[in-house]
Amino acid sequence: MDLYEYQARTLYLKYAVPTIDALVITHAEEAFDAALALGPGPVVVKAQVKVGGRGKAGGVRLARSPEEARTAAAEILGSSIKGHPVRQVLVAQGVDIAAEYYVSLLIDRSNRAYLALASSEGGVDIETLAAERPEALIRAPIDPLQGFDEAAANALVAAAQVDSDVAGQVAQTLLRLWELMRGEDAMLVEVNPLAVTSGRQVLALDGKITLDDAAAFRHPDHREFADAEPTDPLEAKAKAAGLGYVKLDGQIGIIGNGAGLVMSTLDVVAAAGEGHGGVKPANFLDIGGGASAEVMAAGLEVVLTDERVRAVLVNVFGGITACDEVARGIVAALAALGGSGGKQIVVRLAGNSVDAGRAILAEANLAPVHMAETMEQAAELVASLAAAN
Ligand SMILES: Nc1ncnc2c1ncn2[C@@H]1O[C@H](COP(=O)(O)OP(=O)(O)O)[C@@H](O)[C@H]1O
Ligand SMILES: [Mg+2]
Repeated sequence: MDLYEYQARTLYLKYAVPTIDALVITHAEEAFDAALALGPGPVVVKAQVKVGGRGKAGGVRLARSPEEARTAAAEILGSSIKGHPVRQVLVAQGVDIAAEYYVSLLIDRSNRAYLALASSEGGVDIETLAAERPEALIRAPIDPLQGFDEAAANALVAAAQVDSDVAGQVAQTLLRLWELMRGEDAMLVEVNPLAVTSGRQVLALDGKITLDDAAAFRHPDHREFADAEPTDPLEAKAKAAGLGYVKLDGQIGIIGNGAGLVMSTLDVVAAAGEGHGGVKPANFLDIGGGASAEVMAAGLEVVLTDERVRAVLVNVFGGITACDEVARGIVAALAALGGSGGKQIVVRLAGNSVDAGRAILAEANLAPVHMAETMEQAAELVASLAAAN
């Protein structure tokens, strides 16, 4: 789960990561009082959306008075930043910035370790920095068994060439972020910018934290971070059925078994769609390993009830999941729904019990169901059917 900046700030406070005072509000009128409460001096009004680069997109505004804060909040609230509707804004103390650094901690899966990153050239888009001046972004692997200590933090900070008078503060901040990462089971903690004020104080001015959902059971208090907005009915239905479902913005329903297979199916279908007027996947849906006919049926039901979906691809590689179970699930779902609502379904089965699966579908002789041999053929067929429907 990704956190909003204001939620990341609550964890900063818990772990004594130095930051500014700020208040989150939902109505523009509240910005006036918030700015007053934060004391004299300018404030910054910041859109709370889970996307980076808000500054450049107009989602971060400096306000020199409570009136200006109210105006800025009125303009930002209800607008959309990079396609994300803004429902809350943070009114934060404005600081006089002398330098902007970048620090982050993340899980480095390929090396089975953590990674600490630091740069004295923060503030900018870090992907751009990594691409254009990779030498300015210092990386320090952290052995998960050894952890991150003061010596490692100091070495990283020195290598990043931060101003020597604030090096100690930056190193301390990194250590607190490490405590936060471990204590909260975060997968990513990123501060950009970690600012140095004209008074030479180091302060986290932005916060990006991703919590590990698999560790949610250890953190009942993280539940308050979950979005209170009504969840999408399809997502709620999929979740209730124990399916790994993510809504995307295309027209082709995708169902597969195993996250890797589903991901590559998305890619292949998106590529095939380019030849058919740009039709794209409508969702990611993983029925998981060892899925039963019931699970398959539940998945197909979710996808078929999505009104944006014009055609569906079921791509199953039978391993623990047996293809005959998948076929039975397809037959059951279509019986339960009384058909596919005019949507064509392309099925590609391979592996465990493939012959039995194909036989079940042949026997059922369902009009909307088409068999395909390979993933490429299946993608091509489903894209053409979606474009034609
Ligand atoms: N409290 C603040 N006081 C002064 N400037 C700020 C403050 N917060 C952010 N900024 C400036 O706005 C820029 C963008 O803000 P940031 O929170 O990093 O949003 P994003 O990364 O989404 O663009 C920062 O790099 C910094 O220069
Ligand atoms: Mg930022």
